[in-house]
Amino acid sequence: MKTILITGGAGFIGSHVVRRFVEKYPRLQIINLDALTYAGNLENLESIHDADNYSFVKGDITDPEFIDELFIDHPFDAVIHLAAESHVDRSIKDPLAFVRTNVIGTMNLLNSCRDHWASYEGKLFYHISTDEVYGSLGEEGLFTESTSYDPKSPYSASKAASDHLVRAYHNTYGLPVVISNCSNNYGPNQFPEKLIPLAINNIRNNKTIPVYGKGENIRDWLFVEDHAVAIDTIFHHGQTGKTYNVGGKNEWKNIDLIKLLCRVMDKKLNREPGTSEKLITFVKDRAGHDLRYAIDSSKIEKDLGWEPSVNFEQGLEKTVDWYLENSKWLNNVTSGAYSSYYDKMYGN
Ligand code: NAD
Ligand code: DAU
Repeated sequence: MKTILITGGAGFIGSHVVRRFVEKYPRLQIINLDALTYAGNLENLESIHDADNYSFVKGDITDPEFIDELFIDHPFDAVIHLAAESHVDRSIKDPLAFVRTNVIGTMNLLNSCRDHWASYEGKLFYHISTDEVYGSLGEEGLFTESTSYDPKSPYSASKAASDHLVRAYHNTYGLPVVISNCSNNYGPNQFPEKLIPLAINNIRNNKTIPVYGKGENIRDWLFVEDHAVAIDTIFHHGQTGKTYNVGGKNEWKNIDLIKLLCRVMDKKLNREPGTSEKLITFVKDRAGHDLRYAIDSSKIEKDLGWEPSVNFEQGLEKTVDWYLENSKWLNNVTSGAYSSYYDKMYGN
């Protein structure tokens, strides 16, 4: 039986990955390490918390002694590393938190792998990263695996630094690594500070929907379960030392996406068509706001046979249904620390 350490498994993407691995691979022992920050929530894992091949450890990847102890206690065969500070707006307010977790935290994990793995045979450090490391596109073009790094926010700079460290440990110490860089995820369990769940939650509560600038920025949206499948595929079949870009082939201008979401919400909430759109409010733009991200995922498609399975209309409807059926989850995660942060940012 192999033992896999998944970091950040109580967060949005991590919880989908943990659930998939625990359910699909009973012969893999999954240990989920998470600090349970505002973004981590064990409610995301209720369906598997009793499974024989699953256990949870609360801990902080910025603490090297703690990580070392964990590697002494457990014979990890692989690490799937998702723990991170993940929200761009927070990185603009507090860059140091992003350097601590995303850079130092990743280095601590790399050091423990290097120091505790007597042989690298059968071992893997899989780093989950973002397309934001490539910077911002103009109207044309796509990010490929060979696009130069050009991160522009403190968040993307910290993720770029962590990617560089992962490659440096491969080059310098021969650590077996793989990296994937993915576009914007959406779906159930995403903390409602990110655009889609924030808008769903506000529409549900008749609050304004803050659209930055003129809403002309473009993102490439991927349903989170398709990302979990990509991670599973890369983990089992990816080539060591390689990078895979993962995207949805699904570019949307923010304002068009929000208008589509408003139409879906009106239908689901039995409101008059046009009701939710009245909540759209253009607010001050994000500092240094990247114009456009879009991924060329032809490498993972050709080499590993992965492609997105959910189209945007289906994915958005599933997502809206999940949030409306899980208002307790939404109320729990938006009470306390988050709601005061939100009120400070938007004042409503
Ligand atoms: P998230 O913010 O929802 O979850 C992050 C998790 O990491 C939380 O459970 C949190 O408690 C945990 N964590 C944070 N700091 C920690 C620390 N110091 N020690 C241990 N645990 C800690 O993030 P997400 O959206 O699920 O993103 C997961 C990963 O995927 C991140 O590395 C992110 O950069 C990357 N990514 C995200 C997206 C996206 O659209 N959300 C797209 C591409 C890549
Ligand atoms: O591209 C991958 C990245 O996608 C991940 O690495 C990040 O972890 C993830 O947070 C996401 O980053 P973005 O900054 O693109 O996501 P966010 O949901 O914050 O914003 C999406 C777009 O919507 C962006 O152009 C900013 C805009 N926006 C966002 C919020 C929160 C608004 O207009 N209003 C908002 O209130």
